Amino acid sequence: MEIASSIVAKVAEPIVDYTVAPIARQVGYLIFYEDNFKNLKDQAAELKRAKDTICDRVEAERKSARQICDGAQNWLNKADKIIEAVEKLGNDPRHKNAGCRRWPFPDLKSRHQLSRKAKKMVGDVAEVMQGKDNIGPLTFLPGLEGVGSTSVTNSEKLGSRKKEKEEIILALKDPNLSRIGVYGLGGVGKTTLVEEIARQVKDHKLFDEVVMVNISQTAELERIQREMADLLRLRFEETSIPGRALRLRQRLKNEKSILVILDDIWDVLKLEKLGIPLNDHKGCKLLLTSRNQEILQKMETQKDFLIDVLNEDEAWRLFEDMVGDVVKDVSLHDVAIQVAQKCAGLVVLIVTVARALKGKDDIDSWKDALNQLKTIDKEGVNEKIYSALEFSYNHLEGDDVKALFLLCGLLGPQICVDDLLTYGMGLGIFKQIYTLNDIRRQLHRLIGSLKGILSIA
Ligand SMILES: Nc1ncnc2c1ncn2[C@@H]1O[C@H](COP(=O)(O)OP(=O)(O)OP(=O)(O)O)[C@@H](O)[C@H]1O
Ligand SMILES: [Mg+2]
Repeated sequence: MEIASSIVAKVAEPIVDYTVAPIARQVGYLIFYEDNFKNLKDQAAELKRAKDTICDRVEAERKSARQICDGAQNWLNKADKIIEAVEKLGNDPRHKNAGCRRWPFPDLKSRHQLSRKAKKMVGDVAEVMQGKDNIGPLTFLPGLEGVGSTSVTNSEKLGSRKKEKEEIILALKDPNLSRIGVYGLGGVGKTTLVEEIARQVKDHKLFDEVVMVNISQTAELERIQREMADLLRLRFEETSIPGRALRLRQRLKNEKSILVILDDIWDVLKLEKLGIPLNDHKGCKLLLTSRNQEILQKMETQKDFLIDVLNEDEAWRLFEDMVGDVVKDVSLHDVAIQVAQKCAGLVVLIVTVARALKGKDDIDSWKDALNQLKTIDKEGVNEKIYSALEFSYNHLEGDDVKALFLLCGLLGPQICVDDLLTYGMGLGIFKQIYTLNDIRRQLHRLIGSLKGILSIA
């Protein structure tokens, strides 16, 4: 008897599973139509509240220059999608005929379909809600654009440096080279070239990180460490230079591949004092620039690239490009070629002189320029730079702009507006202006005039 009842139970179980349960479920959709929709509405409202809280937090963090993480953005997209779908289902026109108040009888087919959809959607909403716990961090602090801030906006102008650029990038790809040097006369275009290289290797994902800092004549370790840390989103807790060097070294070693560009080195720089890993981190490559190859060799570069002055054709193309259409005028053409030749292929001279003469269509200005630019052989190129700078200086209109020009020269490459303001006030550059706001306005006007002619940013 016991055996018989267990056989009956075994046979009956699947019948209940496969026939009664599905039927009950289908009938349930009809009966619990209202409940299913109420449940869906409540769950969707809860999801919307959670979504709004996250949006508010992201928005607040965006004000601190943070950016939303992919995980958070994906979750918000999913939440938006399901909330929209719930609304759409709630507004389905079939509801009109599916409700109990429908006389004489509700449209059972619509009632069943809508209720079934609502029940399924409750599960989808719950799934998105659960996903909230796995979003991870909402925002991140993006890296600073430490490269590519050159005043050369049109990279076409670097056409003349294409060969050098390609050779240096090839060397950066060489696994046997980790210290590469770039040298050449002042103003020949080293900084501009390495900035362009930095941008390109970053775009082509040749390195995970690219960090470029200007060393300059003063080479203050503390400033250089601070600038590198900023670019690497590193906050020092240490206060001493050796402590920070250890932290920086640790941070650089965390990157699988990183390019560190140290621009404008004037004297041998002790890399270990700065916190740059030497030969113990294969993924860290160094690109060093200096006017002096000897310095690079003392810093043990394995391959150095000379950035030479432009040849006559390249120099003319750059000059013509910068001065504009006026040089096409036949009466100016010959004298313009002579002016360009006197720049001896030095990019800084070409661009400075070209900016000063841009748009000048009277022959006297050009002849005047030609007289002012003395012809100097290659050894005297530095003198030539001064000659061009003197030329630009003479073309500045107003003593206040001239004074500001000299002040910029004295303060060096790390000029900041506040310093200019302080020193300018001390030196009495801003005549007959008494309020700080007016002085600031005047300073910005003067900087604007200077930028126009010299392009110092
Ligand atoms: N290919 C180029 N096309 C147009 N302008 C350029 C180009 N290369 C450099 N310049 C301009 O020439 C000037 C000097 O260039 P850059 O600062 O790169 O020279 P540098 O060799 O780094 O000089 P320094 O040794 O003084 O640091 C800058 O104003 C820059 O914008
Ligand atoms: Mg430079």
